[in-house]
Amino acid sequence: MTQPLKPADLVPSTGLEGIVVADTVLSDVDGQNGELVLRGRRIEDLAGRMPFEAAVQHLWGDLVPTSGTDLRNAFAQARRMAMAALPAMEKAPAGIGAYDRMRLGIGALPEDTGLTDAELISGACPVLLAAAARLETGYVPIGPDAGLSSAEDLLRMLTGAPPAAYAVNALDRYLVTILDHGLNASTFTARVIASTRAGMRDAVIGAMGALRGPLHGGAPGPVLDMLDAVGTPENAESCVMAELERGERLMGFGHRVYRTRDPRADVLKAGLGELPKDNPRLALAEAVEKAARSALARAKPDRKLDTNVEFYTAVLLDAVGIDRSLFTPLFAAGRTPGWCAHVVEQQKTGKLIRPASRYVGPAVSG
Ligand code: ACO
Repeated sequence: MTQPLKPADLVPSTGLEGIVVADTVLSDVDGQNGELVLRGRRIEDLAGRMPFEAAVQHLWGDLVPTSGTDLRNAFAQARRMAMAALPAMEKAPAGIGAYDRMRLGIGALPEDTGLTDAELISGACPVLLAAAARLETGYVPIGPDAGLSSAEDLLRMLTGAPPAAYAVNALDRYLVTILDHGLNASTFTARVIASTRAGMRDAVIGAMGALRGPLHGGAPGPVLDMLDAVGTPENAESCVMAELERGERLMGFGHRVYRTRDPRADVLKAGLGELPKDNPRLALAEAVEKAARSALARAKPDRKLDTNVEFYTAVLLDAVGIDRSLFTPLFAAGRTPGWCAHVVEQQKTGKLIRPASRYVGPAVSG
């Protein structure tokens, strides 16, 4: 009789590393050379050079159906329509968290709006995020201003005050930087859901579930916690070493695909230079980054662990006054148009994604 395999006999999971499971026209992640291309343009030529809506327009091109309205206007309409989702978000139990409240809002967006699903969901995110944040902290949500861009309106709806131009530019830079990134875990999730012919909101809500984990989009809050714990640049080396000796992963370092520096880290770091005054955290962040890179090179010489996007995400968003509890919701808001584009691309294949597993459990008895 065949004996069941013991855990030690199991083939270690490769996490699908290096396995190609989809063709895409959307983005190319070159892990060896540290390059990210969105529809034929390097991320450095997009982020910091155009507002979020223009980058989405570039990504969507002729792939994603739109209502024909200029995208800035379509997103402004979506923000207005998103107000219909607020009652469902208000009914959520206190303390549920901005992220879950935002997900409830996506599920409660109105039907038959005249916008496409991609426009409605992507455009609505700033309202859902800002309302979720305000409800969590006991404030009344603020309605959108259709005359503003997504980034400016999002900042205004969060605080109730008109944001500074530098903050709007920094947020646009961030949102463009994280718009799309190949077949990462959340995008793959969105494509799996789309392949079952479930709707776009199901795909986005499911993708948000995959995004929130600390190995993916949940890392920047903990990055800031780490910087707080380090406190001063002089402590960087000892704190980083202590963390590794405890067997912890350093948040904001390492990547499944990049075997060199994540290009998005530099795009975001460059954004810090455009802020009006020296950011007190920048020297600290640079010291921690230097200590972490050299400690990781010593600890994992074969793995090539370098800075990823989440490290400078934390520093940049903190510098523009975004609370760390909103880092992952903001990541979701910026990635949503990317998820929607992948959903459309997946729908075009018409094929259910359904891989196989190998049974290693007990043999049939009796
Ligand atoms: N700190 C310490 N050790 C690390 C780190 C890290 N940041 N990253 C990887 N390692 C180690 C692992 O412990 C493992 O060691 P082992 O072989 O001795 O067990 C080895 O490097 C390989 O790690 P894997 O988990 O197999 O590599 P994978 O490609 O699956 O991981 C990941 C990529 C999840 C991003 C990882 O580098 C990590 O956990 N980083 C920290 C969390 C983080 O920054 N997340 C944000 C990622 S960016 C994004 O998703 C937007």
